[in-house]
Amino acid sequence: MSTRVNWIKAIFFICAFCLLAVAPAQAQFGMPGKPAVNGPWMNRNLSPDQRADLVIKQMTLDEKIQLLHGMGWQAIFGNPTSGPAVRSLGGAGFIPGIPRLGIPDLQMSDAAVGVALGARRSRYSTALPSVEAEAASWDPKVAYAFGALIGTELRDQGFNMSLGGGVDVVREPRGGRTFEYQGEDPILAGTMDGQLIRGTQSQHVIGDIKHYALNDQEDGRSFANVIMDKRAMRETDLLAFQIAIHESDVGAVMCSYNLIDGVYACENDYTLRDVLDHDWGYKGLVVSDWGGTHSTVKAALAGLDIQMPGDKYFGEPLKKAVESGQVPMSRIDEMVHRILRTEFAVGLIDNPSQPKVVDPMHGFKVAQYVEEQGAVLLKNADNQLPLNPSMNGTIAVIGGHADAGVLSGGGSAQVDPAGGNPVLPPGGQPRTVAAYLAQWIYHRSVPLDAIRKAAPEAKVEYNPGTDVDAAAALAKSASVAIVFAVQHESEGSDLPNLSLPGNQNDLIAAVSAANPHTIVVLESGGAVTMPWLDHVSGVLESWYPGIRGAQAIAAILFGKVNPSGKLPITFPKSEAQLPHPEETKQPKGPLTPDPNMPFFKINRRVFDVHYDEGLKVGYKWYDAENKTPLFPFGFGLSYTTFAYSGLKVTHGNALNVSFTVRNTGRRAGQEIAEIYATLPASAQEPPRRLVGWKKVGLAPGESKTVSVSVQPLYLSIFNVARNNWQMVPGEYKIWAGGSERDLPLSETIPLTGD
Ligand code: BGC
Repeated sequence: MSTRVNWIKAIFFICAFCLLAVAPAQAQFGMPGKPAVNGPWMNRNLSPDQRADLVIKQMTLDEKIQLLHGMGWQAIFGNPTSGPAVRSLGGAGFIPGIPRLGIPDLQMSDAAVGVALGARRSRYSTALPSVEAEAASWDPKVAYAFGALIGTELRDQGFNMSLGGGVDVVREPRGGRTFEYQGEDPILAGTMDGQLIRGTQSQHVIGDIKHYALNDQEDGRSFANVIMDKRAMRETDLLAFQIAIHESDVGAVMCSYNLIDGVYACENDYTLRDVLDHDWGYKGLVVSDWGGTHSTVKAALAGLDIQMPGDKYFGEPLKKAVESGQVPMSRIDEMVHRILRTEFAVGLIDNPSQPKVVDPMHGFKVAQYVEEQGAVLLKNADNQLPLNPSMNGTIAVIGGHADAGVLSGGGSAQVDPAGGNPVLPPGGQPRTVAAYLAQWIYHRSVPLDAIRKAAPEAKVEYNPGTDVDAAAALAKSASVAIVFAVQHESEGSDLPNLSLPGNQNDLIAAVSAANPHTIVVLESGGAVTMPWLDHVSGVLESWYPGIRGAQAIAAILFGKVNPSGKLPITFPKSEAQLPHPEETKQPKGPLTPDPNMPFFKINRRVFDVHYDEGLKVGYKWYDAENKTPLFPFGFGLSYTTFAYSGLKVTHGNALNVSFTVRNTGRRAGQEIAEIYATLPASAQEPPRRLVGWKKVGLAPGESKTVSVSVQPLYLSIFNVARNNWQMVPGEYKIWAGGSERDLPLSETIPLTGD
């Protein structure tokens, strides 16, 4: 035998050995690698629907039921030693697959702003800025990059389903999850969320959109019965979902905890069957929020496909309901079809992930990019900013734990801080899960260090701000004072009000009285009130700025980056301006442990929340009620200025809007040019709605023509009697400019309607 053949044999054995060695590693990660099975459904030339049906033909009823519920917290915190749960990667959810058919385990992780906490706390993931910051970029490319990074890191860690994608409209600005959502406008929110999900799914990871629907407050979220008229629902909260689902072909919708018009969202015929399924033609799966399933037959028939977590409703009871004919086998097949179809469509069966170490450098870049695009400059009196990088006076950095890190939002979205929380609560590292979830967590991106680096010749001194007088004394001796102000938000409860907590308002007032050059950097989940606004010279809203937040903030403060973000939410002057000056709270009652999350206690009493402002969400409320907010929707300053001219509105199949934007300042910058429409009076709508926008980059003196085609849907109203969208005939006024309250161009055009 020739030496060549011996070599080939040797290589063959080495390869076989390697494969055997790798196999247990894949099993350990719950990654079946290439499916061992070669059924006809593995033919990639067939459609995802055909492939799903071929698998279903092979399945027993038990196998089908197995895919319809999964494990959650018990798989994470129970340290399982036997059964399929040992394969769980410790994400928020796990559904064992069917190896004999090549159907992989579904490994789900929370991933609103990065791959979130699990039991394996030594895992590193990029902490991105908040979703609100991403939304404030108004840039679909930023949203896509944000989602793609999440998809990549989920995949690198062996997860194949995201639980991110939050798009509940910010109707209640005190909402504890505002930082996880895309703002108050359905068209902006839906567009950005759609791009985010597309990014995630580009990595062959199932994207998720949540929390469907009307989960706009956290207080009493499991028992809040939301009352809103259908037209308002369809044109506001549901429209955001409609647009995002349409743009992304998302694989999973998570139904929410709350009730809608008396019926739980996870068993609600109207939102699940009539709207999602019938009107929008959604083909993916519906998964319940954790503990959000309340029945077997009702939920299954209404359109819920997966109960998470546990098997109380969709385990044995569902099998019995099939056997007794209460749930037809055709519905079970439909549920399974939606799951398998999604797995084929997103490509996680054809492209199973190969676990590898997350690339932190790439994550840093994306996180910094998102923050630089999303931070919003709210005030810049006398062009105080940007600061001169070669300044050599004293810079007083005050408060907000700016010597340790930047704040992050809490709850299931919390990304574990690299190296642990640099700001431990009194008493040290919390011991219980509930305490861990409740603490304020900071990421080790240190503003003080970043400022020292950005201004190497300045003397940069820090004061924690706990002693207001000491902080003011430091500010007095400095050429400029930068106060970092923090407002923590977390899932599970809403903010008591929009004030900066603790002594921070007093601190800013004292510092700004001591130094006229005071700049406030806000790290907040959403809007805050600013009683000190007139006395400070600059305000930068950095949201929760993520793992490279300090670097991005310093780049903006010292002019390396020209800010271009704009507000995706309105900032009120005070709570009195809100549609509900007081939030509707759950009436007090006895607290009992939540059976699904025993470390939480809940009050099991349903109460009504009337969103009677209806269509007037966010800026639409301020317009309709003639209120002047502190900062309007769409507002954000740049270090340069822009001028608008030459509006042209034409219509063919769509409405085309074009105009010129010119950079009239001395720095290159990006402008988000916004387009609004006032509908004819007969439409009975709030005064104005956003219908399009474009972000344009301009060199000093440069002009560009912005051209946007406005989709008819965005000019329509929802006609409940016809159960359809309708464009009413009449005069439409089209506006263009730099914010909802700064629209120098307008033109009125008659449209014939439908
Ligand atoms: C949250 C969801 C989250 C799930 C799993 C729930 O409490 O509302 O957003 O995905 O937990 O962690």
